[in-house]
Amino acid sequence: MRLARRAAVAIAAGALLSGTAAYGTASAGDTASATAQHLPQPWAGTSQADTLRDAAATQGRFVGTALNDGLLNNPTYTAIAGGEFSSVTAENAMKWGSLESTRGQYNWGGADRLVEFADRHGQQVYGHTLVWHSQLPGWVENGNFSPTELRGIVDNHIATVAGRYAGDIDRWDVVNEVFNEDGTFRDSVFSRAFGESFVADAFRATRAADPDARLFINDYNTDGINAKSDGMYRLVSSLLDAGVPIDGVGFQSHMILGQMPASYQANLQRFADLGLEVVITELDIRMNTPSDAGRLAQQAEQYRQVVQACLNVDRCSGVTMWGVSDRDSWIPGVFPGEGAANLYDEDYRPKPAYGAVLAAFGGGGDPDPTDPTDPTDPSDPTDPTDPAPGGCTVSYRVTSAWPGGSVVEVGVTTATALDGWQATFALPAGARVTGGWNATFSQSGSTVTAANVAHNRAVGAGGTFGFGFQSDTGAHGAPAVSLNGERCATG
Ligand code: XIL
Repeated sequence: MRLARRAAVAIAAGALLSGTAAYGTASAGDTASATAQHLPQPWAGTSQADTLRDAAATQGRFVGTALNDGLLNNPTYTAIAGGEFSSVTAENAMKWGSLESTRGQYNWGGADRLVEFADRHGQQVYGHTLVWHSQLPGWVENGNFSPTELRGIVDNHIATVAGRYAGDIDRWDVVNEVFNEDGTFRDSVFSRAFGESFVADAFRATRAADPDARLFINDYNTDGINAKSDGMYRLVSSLLDAGVPIDGVGFQSHMILGQMPASYQANLQRFADLGLEVVITELDIRMNTPSDAGRLAQQAEQYRQVVQACLNVDRCSGVTMWGVSDRDSWIPGVFPGEGAANLYDEDYRPKPAYGAVLAAFGGGGDPDPTDPTDPTDPSDPTDPTDPAPGGCTVSYRVTSAWPGGSVVEVGVTTATALDGWQATFALPAGARVTGGWNATFSQSGSTVTAANVAHNRAVGAGGTFGFGFQSDTGAHGAPAVSLNGERCATG
């Protein structure tokens, strides 16, 4: 799906854009994106990051969430998903059964929306998943194809999906869940046709379709050293020996409260020692419901241990949570009587586990980062008790203006290092941004959000970045500008 990133590149290249085709109109997601400015955002005036993504970035890690595109019209959900996480995985939208339930008829809507969401929020995209025995279309599962036919079907699927999103995807789960619990190879429509060889073929086909994505194999109950993870270890070792283009192993880590494998870190490390990247891909920690304070505290500690294990392994690049809140988690539907597995509760309030993960990544400071009215919340830009600006300095210059139009250049100097940024400001009532460069723009009412593009995502401490735009309003005074939710001084 090249629309979103192409548009961003075109803007970054300085192309003068007219109308709304590439710029985009304020959608529910855009509104939520603006809302996110008032929700958890980094605060450069404190030494500790107060979002998961900023804290994780200080450790050189990403922190992700499974994203349910059906919830993108919920502004609370999108504010947290966009503001707290630096990576998104499609919970279902990129699975074969979602994309091509009828042969040859593709439904790209959910996957495209996810990629656009990630683009707007400066997030990585973790592609999930190309070849999996589950959530397959019926026509693949029950087609009784010859191996030659099935080979063509799988190759075409990978070429079509990985090809479409080439350039948008940072990592792909090329194959998912190919092992039985005892470490033997799982029976599936693919293994029946090809034995184990479909794994290597799928990696080669994905590399051909998207040379830049890092390619992963992913599984569950492989979190500690056990028969199943031994099977995984043998397979990836043989793939590496055969020169198959595999870059990493995903450990789903769908965990049960109180069942943290003692060998968790050692297991990550043995795969890392093969030269592979490792990622915690689908973390949740479920318990019998209803929860209580004691179990939520125990859960927080288990989350901390998982994150700490990743941080202790150099090649562990990130941790993805399987869903934002207990409300949208898959657990109660699949494990009756269990739930409360995520970082946020049913009302999107952060649980003790949230604080534990934030602290494990080295962040902290805001006891309730989702409460915009919290007078002690330093991320609330309207809060008069907040410390004076100082973390960023901005210059907003109208470089040319005429009746009904102007060009503006904005320069922002940041005191602290950034890995992804959003600058927000208000235009005069009724004015619209009509084009721009070096940022991706969205607008909700008069509030404009300019988000980083790929090439200016990372800014060092004391560094300056700039962007510019055209609008349909004439000369106007410089508005207040906020960087990641913090008001900037003018300079
Ligand atoms: C789950 C989703 O969360 C559910 O919404 C869906 O009904 C079933 O799949 N391992 C995986 C994920 O790799 O794709 C699964 O996601 C959870 C287990």
